Parts: sequence; C-alpha cells; structure tokens
Amino acid sequence: MKTLVVYYSRTKITEKVAQTISENINCDIEEIIDLKDRSGAIGYLKAGKDAMKKVETDISISDKDPSRYDCVIIGTPVWAFTMAPAIRTYINQNKDRFKKVAFFCTEGGSGHEKTFKDMEELTKKKPITTLFLLTKEVSKEQHINKTQEFVEKIKES
Ligand SMILES: Cc1cc2nc3c(=O)[nH]c(=O)nc-3n(C[C@H](O)[C@H](O)[C@H](O)COP(=O)(O)O)c2cc1C
Repeated sequence: MKTLVVYYSRTKITEKVAQTISENINCDIEEIIDLKDRSGAIGYLKAGKDAMKKVETDISISDKDPSRYDCVIIGTPVWAFTMAPAIRTYINQNKDRFKKVAFFCTEGGSGHEKTFKDMEELTKKKPITTLFLLTKEVSKEQHINKTQEFVEKIKES
C-alpha cells in the first residue's frame, strides 16, 4: 500500500511521531508549513484564536499529490480542541484527493476526540485508525509502542 504521512508541527512534537510512523511503514513524508508566524506569546495567542474560529491559513505548496497514495496519514497538534489551521487548510485544499485516511495527534492533555471528529467531517472519510499521544509521552520517547501498533493496523487494512 503506497502511503504518505502529512503533518504540521509547531514545536516538533507531532513531527517526532510523524518520523516514527514513516520509519515503521517506510513511506513518504511531507511537512506542511504554516506561513503565518506562530512563534512567541503573540503567535501562540493568535494560533489559538485562529484554531477556535476554524479559519484557514497560508500553507506551503505541497509537492506530493495525495491522490497518488492508497493511504494518507494526517497528523496535527491539538489546538483549542481541534486541528491546527495548517492541517484544516491542507485537508480543505485536498479533500477530493484522499482514498484511505488515518489520523494522529499530539496534545497537552485533552481534545483528541473532537479533533478526530472534525478531521473526519472535513475529509468526509472514516479513518482506518487513529492515534493520540500526550506531549510528555513523546518528549520522553514513550510513543514508540503505540505508534507501532497504529502502523500495524494501517498495514493490515
Ligand atoms: C495555540 C495552541 C492551542 C493548544 N490547545 C490545546 C488543547 O486544546 N488541548 C491540549 O491538550 N493541548 C493543546 N495545546 C498543546 C499542544 O497540542 C501540544 O503541546 C502538542 O504536542 C504540540 O505539538 P507540536 O510540537 O507538534 O506543535 C495547544 C497548543 C497551542 C500552541
């Protein structure tokens, strides 16, 4: 199964999971860059506001066409109980190009259920499977086992 992992990451936590997935499934990986400045305290506040209002943002042009993959695994940090604007924008720009999807997210404490529900609504696809991890688990390298189980479910599908 030809698979692509696509992710957005502000502080490299979601990126770490994306890299573990791509190493385990041996697939292509693509980072979505948010062209809005999300750094510092003001960047954080605006990020939360944008996520809450479900607005789109300007993102880097992706060079991998999702319609050329059997499965696209989409990863986001949880922002204000939903996906980051960069992932909302990516999904909106590609929503007719997905075959199978799977979702993962990282979060400080809560919000993955709502995030996955919103991603399902936006892609109009039920994910093969989902994975959520706490920021602290990933920081301590405690995400490997759960990530491998997630990858196995995708391989079996
Ligand atoms: C603007 C903003 C809003 C956030 N909202 C939530 C939230 O609603 N729930 C939660 O558990 N964590 C929240 N977080 C924490 C992030 O989801 C968490 O730190 C994540 O692992 C960061 O991933 P990244 O390093 O890939 O950006 C928020 C972080 C930011 C920057």
